[in-house]
Amino acid sequence: MKKSATIGILSLAAAFASSHASADELSLVCSAEQSWCDLMASGFEAKTGIDVAMVRKSTGETLAQVRAEAGNPKIDVWWGGTGDPHLVAAEEGLTQASGADTAQLLDWAVNMHTISGGKTVGIYAGALGIAYNSEILAEKGAQPPACWKDLMNPAYAGEIQVANPNSSGTAYTELATFVQLFGEDEAFRLLKEIGKNVNSYTKSGSAPSKAAARGETGISIGFMHDMVKLASKGFPLKIVAPCEGTGYEVGAVSIIEGAKNLDAAKQWVEYALDADVQSLAQTVKSFQVPSNSNAKVAPESPDLNSIKLIDYDFATYGSSETRGRLLSRWDAEVKP
Ligand code: F6P
Repeated sequence: MKKSATIGILSLAAAFASSHASADELSLVCSAEQSWCDLMASGFEAKTGIDVAMVRKSTGETLAQVRAEAGNPKIDVWWGGTGDPHLVAAEEGLTQASGADTAQLLDWAVNMHTISGGKTVGIYAGALGIAYNSEILAEKGAQPPACWKDLMNPAYAGEIQVANPNSSGTAYTELATFVQLFGEDEAFRLLKEIGKNVNSYTKSGSAPSKAAARGETGISIGFMHDMVKLASKGFPLKIVAPCEGTGYEVGAVSIIEGAKNLDAAKQWVEYALDADVQSLAQTVKSFQVPSNSNAKVAPESPDLNSIKLIDYDFATYGSSETRGRLLSRWDAEVKP
């Protein structure tokens, strides 16, 4: 009797421990900048008492992990990164509806929610651009670029850096932007020509602008908010909104299908959409435009209304078929 009572108590305790553990932890992949990821994770821990186990990964890399772990995911929530791969994950059944309250969100954020059937939602937006290191171009006697097509100029040989669109959501946004601006065949022709000036295709989307800031490359392609952050730190980086117009990202948050800590994951989504939480991004110099209409927009945030933005087609360029096809073509024609 005594022994079975003890076993009963022990198994009750074990059951409590496991249910308690699942309520008290959250596994997160963050595809924004490390400093913002850290701020978000520590703020969530302080607010909820839930421990966050977090890694930072680029957007395309995260999609690859989510695909590889389908059916037995290690991740509960994917926060940040460009929206197209989040939409692909939703279409492939790799993420689930979060029950997000979209009442205070701007249209472009709600659009992601609508396209994905509630499986992802916008958290921020930012425009794509070109940055150049003014000291390097002056040393070379090269004119600064004003348009995407200027990047084909042989004066920039070996001076352009951009990420690889397989791993980086930023670079996929660039690829999709070129296709929408110029048509697919012309886009690939331009990317191949520009490729002659590219010194490296990096894994992460913000790496090229960091390299340009440090003087390791003359020109970078990336999101303007990442460039503003570097310029605000005093680096000699000038930012260009390309003359032909440019694309933009809607950063997103998604809960992974089969998430082991679903309740904590839903709390994270609510937290990520909160106006006060979004307003804190600027304290770590993350200058994306927040998706909550009541959040504070940093004075440094590039003003999306004053940039010539294309009407980026998220439904098409966030579809599994289109992304897969464009990446295969990029691998075959541009990367070599
Ligand atoms: O550095 C922040 C950021 O530019 C985000 O705005 C964007 O969603 C993310 O990086 C994309 O990163 P990557 O190109 O490495 O996937």
